[in-house]
Amino acid sequence: MTNITLILGDITDQTVDAVVNAANSSLLGGGGVDGAIHRRGGSDILDECRALRASHYGGGLPAGQAVATTAGRLPARWVIHTVGPVFSANEDRSATLASCYRESLRVADELGVRTVAFPAVSTGVYRWPLTDAARIALDAVRAADTSVTEARFVLFDQPAYDAFETALRGD
Ligand code: APR
Repeated sequence: MTNITLILGDITDQTVDAVVNAANSSLLGGGGVDGAIHRRGGSDILDECRALRASHYGGGLPAGQAVATTAGRLPARWVIHTVGPVFSANEDRSATLASCYRESLRVADELGVRTVAFPAVSTGVYRWPLTDAARIALDAVRAADTSVTEARFVLFDQPAYDAFETALRGD
């Protein structure tokens, strides 16, 4: 059974086995979580991302999928990069957002990881409404068949924290 915890803070501060990155399909960095992880983790992460692009992911990492690299100088051991869907008001992309969490846990299990820190994927630049994103995220983690013992959602601001806390209580 995976214990779900919530924390208000910076995902790059988390001492867990794996930190999940809200990446884009290029895997070559960006802003938000992606920018923070690359800035704090250092160039080893980008080097491995480039190697992934040169090998398995020539066309980029598709939305909903996940892949692991070193965490470089972060206090974590691994970064699991996942690409969230961009929110769309006229196309339901919920399954893709749920897949980000499910696939990140699958990769975590392949690595033998026990503690994972998740950001609120797609709720920043990709504009997914927090309440809905929190419900999808928690449902996906609860439904996953995984050996991960702690799924720690690291929320960067109070509105995000409140949205996840409300969803966790099942209001
Ligand atoms: N730690 C934890 N959460 C953070 C951090 C951080 N250091 N920085 C930002 N966040 C929060 C945001 O406030 C938001 O709630 O993470 C959530 C996801 O926001 P983004 O990082 O913008 O990710 P996303 O919405 O999935 O958009 C991905 O943005 O940064 C680019 O390269 C990235 O193109 C990709 C896109």
